[in-house]
Amino acid sequence: MLDQQKKIVQSTLPALKVHGEEITRYFYQEMLGAHPELRSMFNASDQADGTQAKRLAGAILAYAGNIDRLDLLGSAVNQIARSHVRVHVQADQYPIVGKYLLLAIKAVLGDAATPEVIEAWGAAYAQLADILIPMEKGMYAAAAAD
Ligand code: HEM
Repeated sequence: MLDQQKKIVQSTLPALKVHGEEITRYFYQEMLGAHPELRSMFNASDQADGTQAKRLAGAILAYAGNIDRLDLLGSAVNQIARSHVRVHVQADQYPIVGKYLLLAIKAVLGDAATPEVIEAWGAAYAQLADILIPMEKGMYAAAAAD
């Protein structure tokens, strides 16, 4: 991820703080509409009462806020990976989630979501996916070896 992209991600934080829950709600609605096969993976009551949206919004903001200090996110990332393994998240599902996350950011930020902003967030998502995917792979391998 380029320094310039990190700056862009950080500069969008105030707007994301205002629209965070709106973004994640849009994200789930659009993604699960296009990919109903993913629906059963997500806890239905958490989705209905907005808990899921708040958790994901919180994770996105924490990540963006600490983009220069990823070490601080260590235990949070580990917790996310463990939740993912519990519901059998697969590496090939990451591009789907990434696509709808960016679409949601775009829809909610409107004109503020310039191509540079979307590209910067794409890079940020890819960076986090590159941490989570190998971590989850290791957890699946450890579970299989048990
Ligand atoms: C960089 C990408 C991702 C981030 C930052 C992220 C973040 C999170 C967070 C913060 C949680 C809540 C963990 C907890 O409270 O313990 C979570 C849970 C979950 N994530 Fe992800 N996630 C990502 C990618 C994915 C992908 C690719 C999938 C595949 C469909 C996925 C599916 C889920 C599911 C099913 C849960 C559990 C939800 C529930 O219990 O209702 N996530 N994720």
